[in-house]
Amino acid sequence: MSDLVVERRGTAAWITLNRPEVRNALSRDLNLRLREITIDLDERDDVRVIVVTGSGDKAFCAGADLKERRDVSPDDTGVYVNAISAAISSFGDARKPTVCAMNGSAYGGGLELALACDFRILVEGAEVGLTEVKLGIIPGGGGTQRLPRLIGEARAKELILLGRRISAARALEIGLVHQVVPRAGFAAAVAALLAELDTCAPLSVQSAKSAIQRGYGKSLDEGLDIERTSYDATLFSDDRNEGLAAFAEGRPPIYRGH
Ligand code: COA
Repeated sequence: MSDLVVERRGTAAWITLNRPEVRNALSRDLNLRLREITIDLDERDDVRVIVVTGSGDKAFCAGADLKERRDVSPDDTGVYVNAISAAISSFGDARKPTVCAMNGSAYGGGLELALACDFRILVEGAEVGLTEVKLGIIPGGGGTQRLPRLIGEARAKELILLGRRISAARALEIGLVHQVVPRAGFAAAVAALLAELDTCAPLSVQSAKSAIQRGYGKSLDEGLDIERTSYDATLFSDDRNEGLAAFAEGRPPIYRGH
């Protein structure tokens, strides 16, 4: 079976990292295909949300494939780092909402992949960490940039400079993940989030996401301009009319994404 499995479930496209024997580590080939697949799914009209998860119950993803890297010279390492960084950025850059269903622990690039997603649900008992400094490198998939934006500089430094592995409970406490769920309820929790997303107008979700992503870190005035442009993108949509009509008629809206 392929080391990347893509399935359609309702309006969601699921990508499963499928190398459980190496804890779903990210090889260069896998990264190149992961990027292609994610970009392709993001462009499809019938996909509303992209979910990424891992096979097995040991780990979501153990990060870069360290065995593959062992034999690569420093001069040749760049292409490997570029591949993992580009794969992760394809999630960060996606117009559609992205969900990381973290079925187990996530380290290094595995956690960086999760950080690039909009939603992170982690299974109870798992651990997460950006462990690169323990390996003589630093995070190369956006971790030094995305983690401080998410949890603040002080806590990000604590995690990154010490290469610490923290529990799911701690990850929840510091806002690194949105939810921690016992394994028995994990699938149901992801399904509930997807069902909730399904009640929202797809163009609105995309426009709101774009406003947040493009405005974050800008001045308030610049951010407000960005918000206005994003708002306007929804103004002439059929779904806006449907939202208003459904409200007036007291029924749930049926959104079609245009
Ligand atoms: N790259 C390549 N192979 C990896 C890997 C990685 N990042 N992480 C784990 N593996 C391999 C192990 O070498 C082992 O292979 P083997 O069966 O041929 O010996 C197999 O996956 C299982 O690993 P193991 O450590 O026995 O499983 P575990 O369930 O007890 O622990 C982890 C899993 C993920 C906690 C542990 O393997 C680990 O800490 N990996 C490194 C994570 C990391 O620091 N990643 C950052 C990369 S920059």
